[in-house]
Formats: sequence, structure tokens, C-alpha cells
Amino acid sequence: MNLLKLAGFLSSCYLSSASVVVSGEHNPGTSILNDTNRPFELLLELDRTKTECRFIGLRKTQKLRGLYPGDALVKTLNTSSGNERISIIAHEVHDIWPKAYNFCGDKEIPYLHRTVEHIDREGQHVYAVPKQENVLPPPPKLEVEPLFQSGPSQNRVDLVFFSDGYLEEEKQKFLDDAMRLAEDISYNQTFNTVRPLLNFWAAFTPSNETGIGVGGKPKNTTYGLYRDGTELRGVYYSNPDLARAACLSLGTQCDYPILMGNDPLYGGLGGEFTVITPSLANGPLVLRHELGHSVIDVGEEYDGGFAYFGVNAIHDPSKPISWSHWLTPLETSFGNPRIERSVMPMQAYPWTLLNTSTPWSINFTSAGTYPRHIVRFSLSGLPKAEDLLVELDGVDLKWKPRADIGVDRWHYDVQQTTFLDSAGSHEVKFSLKNKDLEGTAQLCSVEILEFGTEDEFISALGHYSLFPTFSDKNETTYRPTNEDCLMRIVTTPNFCKVCLEDLWRSLLHRVDFIDDVVTGCKPSPVWPWEWLRTIDLRLIPLAQFREEESVASKETYSITWSKNGRVLEQFKDQTYIEVDDREGPGVYTIDVKFATEEVRYDPEGLLTTGGDFSVSEFCSKKN
Ligand SMILES: *[C@@H]1O[C@H](CO)[C@@H](O)[C@H](O)[C@H]1NC(C)=O
Ligand SMILES: *[C@@H]1O[C@H](CO)[C@@H](O)[C@H](O)[C@H]1NC(C)=O
Ligand SMILES: *[C@@H]1O[C@H](CO)[C@@H](O)[C@H](O)[C@H]1NC(C)=O
Ligand SMILES: *[C@@H]1O[C@H](CO)[C@@H](O)[C@H](O)[C@H]1NC(C)=O
Ligand SMILES: *[C@@H]1O[C@H](CO)[C@@H](O)[C@H](O)[C@H]1NC(C)=O
Ligand SMILES: *[C@@H]1O[C@H](CO)[C@@H](O)[C@H](O)[C@H]1NC(C)=O
Ligand SMILES: *[C@@H]1O[C@H](CO)[C@@H](O)[C@H](O)[C@H]1NC(C)=O
Ligand SMILES: *[C@@H]1O[C@H](CO)[C@@H](O)[C@H](O)[C@H]1NC(C)=O
Repeated sequence: MNLLKLAGFLSSCYLSSASVVVSGEHNPGTSILNDTNRPFELLLELDRTKTECRFIGLRKTQKLRGLYPGDALVKTLNTSSGNERISIIAHEVHDIWPKAYNFCGDKEIPYLHRTVEHIDREGQHVYAVPKQENVLPPPPKLEVEPLFQSGPSQNRVDLVFFSDGYLEEEKQKFLDDAMRLAEDISYNQTFNTVRPLLNFWAAFTPSNETGIGVGGKPKNTTYGLYRDGTELRGVYYSNPDLARAACLSLGTQCDYPILMGNDPLYGGLGGEFTVITPSLANGPLVLRHELGHSVIDVGEEYDGGFAYFGVNAIHDPSKPISWSHWLTPLETSFGNPRIERSVMPMQAYPWTLLNTSTPWSINFTSAGTYPRHIVRFSLSGLPKAEDLLVELDGVDLKWKPRADIGVDRWHYDVQQTTFLDSAGSHEVKFSLKNKDLEGTAQLCSVEILEFGTEDEFISALGHYSLFPTFSDKNETTYRPTNEDCLMRIVTTPNFCKVCLEDLWRSLLHRVDFIDDVVTGCKPSPVWPWEWLRTIDLRLIPLAQFREEESVASKETYSITWSKNGRVLEQFKDQTYIEVDDREGPGVYTIDVKFATEEVRYDPEGLLTTGGDFSVSEFCSKKN
């Protein structure tokens, strides 16, 4: 019996320090990845008055690259009831408590029983992992099926669709709906280039009633999804604890839970749970936009919102610009940040049902100095052009519904290259023409934007600059592109480069390029009595190792092998090496560097990984 001693780890990839027993026979390999070093995560719910703090769970979670000993990372998500779900992640439970007390006050957290393990040399209490009482209901029975699985959940970001309002006999419909949405957001577009870092699952539980509730009343369904009224807008859930139990029961297999309500029309919600419907026109739009908020952690780019934060928003153009490395160079800008010239004279979210007796209208004034403008609005419940008249200053804008939209919601832009004069006020008017549509025809949003000439406001796709975005209070922030990003234009299927770059970084906090390192022994093909030491580096298939057709953006993996500090040139960029057993023992180092055109800025070194380990024994007995 031979002992292979493996020791140490470097940077963010965890290689095992365990002694591994390798028999003298052909040994296909032993993993030397040490994945035991996973951090703890405490989940709390803070009520909207921020006085009551409720324990949800404490668990070991997926590794978090860039989380150093002593750090504690806090992430907050809104719940549908207006509370906050707080996650605190740290390597040791005692690093979690100071942050938890910021939210819960300096008292014990109910249902979590802490015991002091010992008092350290500085007199600090060191706590044992506390015992927790179950505060969540038992999880529902879940039938979990893979939609696309790219690798092991401990080293992937996992998105799970949970069913609501699907009967037992609608299971296939649920799987088809989930597959359609997963494909839409990860093939050719949106999450396409990062798909090897993601797994998509469908977790089915039958409901006793089909569909979702209306008028604020849930149906008899698993998570109790419902709309507030009948109009197409938010979809809320009534059983958050059951949804939490469902997701937590899947462990590292559930990073982003998606509650999908069986309803064909627009609706959804972001936050702790992404809520969607499988609407043909809107399901993918809502899903990718809400995932943008939760996975990348960015705010809005559209006008009229209230949350503008993350890499795609700056509040003060005289401060450093988070996308300066993506700005399109312009001869005229002389190093000063250029701000594209536009203004928003009117913006509203009426979410109002239209009637035939009184048109819905709004007045606004214009500065009269902008040569171009756009009328942007969204509607639902209006399948035919003749059912609605949309006018600006009494002129018919000739609105036509999107083909096949039916009663679902859709977004419309009417662009005009004329000045809106400054004399007096202007009026936008929506007149419903068909009485049968009262109760369903809805005006969701309406906005007027005015722009300078193309020299003053470069609207072209691919132009990176500072574009003003106007909040619900008409406060200005700036975004990187005019309309390249689905965080602004939900009908666009892609993120802009700034969001996409941060998407890579966000995912790479939870995912390491190295899935495993396996070492073994095999007989030499030339001298069967001699042995070869094998080392197999299993990488996430990106760049030259992508399994499907390559992606449009240029990518490369560079792999360097070293032994006892000396680079093994002959193994450059190899994922599998064989060395003569007599040369086997020593300290090996693997350095992996990934490069993609989609990431230009990587301050945390997330594109680099590797580690070292020592091989101290020979494969053959007689050595
Ligand atoms: C894995 O790493 C942890 C932390 O570095 C260490 O305590 C543990 O002994 C290692 N386990 C193995 C099997 O090497
Ligand atoms: C969560 O809700 C609070 C209060 O309602 C709001 O201020 C905050 O911006 C919300 N966060 C996000 C990410 O929407
Ligand atoms: C991806 O694009 C190709 C070529 O443009 C197209 O044939 C294919 O249907 C697309 N797939 C999806 C899932 O959109
Ligand atoms: C839901 O349906 C089941 C089966 O039909 C029934 O037993 C249960 O009482 C219903 N629950 C509610 C809240 O209506
Ligand atoms: C559905 O009905 C079964 C009994 O028929 C019950 O056990 C289950 O809790 C019900 N589901 C919901 C969501 O009420
Ligand atoms: C927002 O502010 C700008 C500049 O002060 C003004 O021209 C515009 O009319 C305002 N828009 C709204 C909707 O108040
Ligand atoms: C009809 O719509 C107008 C404009 O939205 C509104 O002011 C009015 O109250 C509505 N009338 C009825 C009867 O709902
Ligand atoms: C808008 O202005 C027109 C004429 O200037 C007026 O008749 C109309 O009532 C105004 N509409 C609103 C909603 O204020």
C-alpha cells in the first residue's frame, strides 16, 4: 500500500491536505479537492418596522470566494410582505453574531441556542455551532428534475423553478414551461456565455387548484400565489415559509428560487423569491430582469423607479465612473465625462383600467429645445388597434398592438423627430373605444422623453457613455448605454457589457473554475511493470473546452503546471498530465487563468485560481 500525501491549498481553490491511500494497482484517481471549508449562513427576517427579528435558519452554504477569515458578508432582499430577508455569511459562526446584533439588537435570537465553547486568550467568547429549533414548516414533497445541469451544485449557481397552481396532471406543462424559460434566458442570449456556471432545475409539487388567485385571495395552491386585483401587475405569495423550507431542503442546489404561477399573462415580483408566470410574451422578460436584480445585484435603469444602485448606476458624474473602462472613446470628449442630452418632461405609472366614458389623459410642458422625442407606454388587455386611440396633442399616434399579444401586457415606443414647442402644455390621451374591454384594458405606464440631436445624444447601440435616467422623483442618475440593457428596456434580451461583466464576477464568487483535481497511477504503456503518476485537472468547460458551439466573445484558459517551483513547460495548457513515477513525488502547483472579452476589470482576481499539493509517495511498491 502506498501513501500519497497531499498538502496545502492556495488562493481560492481548496485542495485537500488529507492523506490519500492509493493501491499499487491501476488507480484511476482520488480527488484532492477539499470542499469541507464551506462557510456558515444565518438567515433572518426583519419586519418592516425593523424592530422584530425572526430566525429562519442556520446552515453550511456554498463556498464564497473572496470571503476571508473574520469577514462577514451581509445581503438583504425584500420579501413580498415588505419585510427584509437577511443573509449573513462567515467562515466561523462567531463572526456572524456582531452583524446579527446590528439587526436583532443585543439579545439572544429566539430558536437559536448558543453555547460558549471556550474563552480565548483575549477573553473573547468563542461559540460552538448553535443548536437550532425548526421554525419553518416541513418542506413540501418536491419532484426535482434537471432542466440543464452543467456540473455539481457545490460549484455552480443553481436556479430552481418551483411550481404553483399546477395540478398533478399539469406536471408536464410545468416542466415544459420551465424548460422554455430556462432555454430562452440561457441559449444565444442573456445568460448564454455564463451557462456553464449555472444549473437549472424544476421542482414540482402538485397544487389542489389550477392557476393563481386574484383580488388578493390565493387559491388552494402550494405557495399561494395571487394578484392584488384582476389587473396584470405584481404577483405575490402567501406561504413564504413553505417556499423557504422548499429551497433550503435542496441545500446548495437552490441558490435562486423562482416561484412560477400557472397563469398565461404578465405578472411577477423580485426580491427574496423571483415570482414569474410562464406568459409567452412576458415570462422571459420578467425572469431575466428580476434575475438581473438578484444575481448581479443592480438596480433599475428605466425611468420612474426608486432604486438605482450597483455597477450600472452613478449618482455623481464628477466621481469615478464604475464603467470608465467601457466608455466609447470620442475625439470630442477631451477626457471629460460626456453626458448625453435628454430630459423627461412626463412620466407616470397609472396602472389604471380604462373606460369608454372618460379617456385617461395627462398634461406636461416642454422646454421646446429638443429636436427629438419619444412617447413610451405599456398596455394590457388590448388585442386590437381599433380598440384604443392614443393621441399626443390631438394627433393620432397610430398605435398598433404587437401581433399575437392578445390581452397580455406589452411595451410600445413612438419616436418622432419634431420639437415639442414650449408654448403651453401638451397632452397625451388614451381613449378606449370598445366597451367590452372595460375591466381588462389597462394603461400600465406612460412616459415622454426628449433628446438632443444625434451629436448631442448618441442613441446608437453599443455606445457607452453617461445617459441620464430619471427617477420617480425626477432625480437624475446615469446609466452606461441608451437602450442596450434589459435592466432598462425589458424587451431587450441582453445585459449591457457593464452588467454582463458584473454577472461574471457575481457568479465567480460562488463558482471556481476548478471542479476537481484527481490524481492516480497507471501502468506505463511501454514498460508495463513501470508506473505513471497521473493528475487530471477538471475545469468548468469554458474557452477552448466549451462543449457546445463556441461563443462570440473571445475566451482563453491558460494553465501552468509547476513542480517544486519550476514550471513544467511541456504541460502548458494541459488539463491532464502523466509523469514518470520516479519523478512523481514533489510539490505541484496548478495556476489557471481565464480571460474573456466580457471581463475587463477583475480587482478581486476572480478570473485566476489554482493551488498546490504535494505528492510524497511513489506509485510502485518497490520504490
Ligand atoms: C480541508 O480544509 C480545512 C480548512 O483549511 C482543514 O481544516 C481540513 O482538515 C481539510 N480537510 C482535508 C480532508 O484535507
Ligand atoms: C426594499 O424595500 C425598501 C423599502 O420598501 C426600499 O427602500 C428598497 O429600495 C428595496 N430594495 C430593493 C432592492 O428594491
Ligand atoms: C439560437 O440561434 C440560432 C441561430 O441564430 C437559432 O437557430 C436557434 O433556434 C436559437 N436557439 C434558441 C434557443 O433561441
Ligand atoms: C385544499 O384542497 C384540499 C383537497 O381538495 C382540501 O383538503 C383542503 O381543505 C383545501 N384547503 C383549503 C385551504 O381550502
Ligand atoms: C391539497 O390537498 C391535500 C389533501 O388532499 C392536502 O394534504 C394539501 O395540504 C393540500 N394543499 C394545499 C396547498 O392546501
Ligand atoms: C424633470 O426635471 C427637468 C429639469 O428640471 C424638467 O425639465 C422636467 O420637466 C421634469 N420632469 C418631470 C416629470 O417633472
Ligand atoms: C374612467 O376613466 C377615467 C380616467 O382614468 C377615470 O377618471 C374615471 O373615474 C373612470 N370612470 C369610471 C366610471 O370608472
Ligand atoms: C390638459 O390641458 C387641456 C387644455 O390645455 C385641458 O382641456 C385638459 O383638461 C387638461 N388635462 C388634464 C388632465 O389636466
